[in-house]
Amino acid sequence: AGVKGTFSERTFIAIKPDGVQRGLVGKVISRFEERGYKLVGLKALAPSKELAEKHYDDLKARPFFAGLVNYMTSGTPVIAMVWEGKDVIKQGRAMIGATNPLESAPGTIRGQYCISVGRNIIHGSDSFESAEKEIGLWFGKAGELVEWTPANVDWI
Ligand code: PPS
Repeated sequence: AGVKGTFSERTFIAIKPDGVQRGLVGKVISRFEERGYKLVGLKALAPSKELAEKHYDDLKARPFFAGLVNYMTSGTPVIAMVWEGKDVIKQGRAMIGATNPLESAPGTIRGQYCISVGRNIIHGSDSFESAEKEIGLWFGKAGELVEWTPANVDWI
């Protein structure tokens, strides 16, 4: 997950199947881009049950675990992304908003688009350790993440 607290910090962000079905992929990506974060990994995939279970490994004792895995493995793709930039792990969580819809502030992604806890369109790593684990799980193959330096003047 890069180096914590520097501009190379990285987080794992996923747009869940309901976000894809609702056509919110572009809106979510725009928010991260416009904030100033850099996209270094992106793919659409329908995750296997094994991948979803590993991703939510720490929740396996929870009553909602099976439902959560079913939702993630519905067959509709998940948009898996790695975003890079200063404090992106914490800032990403703040941009996403609280898990409980009654607590997700208007203006956050969930506060703007979600009313149900089990249909909350997006996931973001909650710590540096989770980011390391999740990036490795979803982008484990060599060459899937790209190092690049923005050079705005050359492209405008
Ligand atoms: S906790 O209690 O703090 O460990 O859980 P929390 O961080 O709030 O949520 C962990 C992930 O579980 C999802 N979640 C649920 N899914 C379906 N149904 C219910 N009731 C439910 N409660 C929590 C929640 O969206 C979190 O998923 P991610 O993808 O990490 O945001």
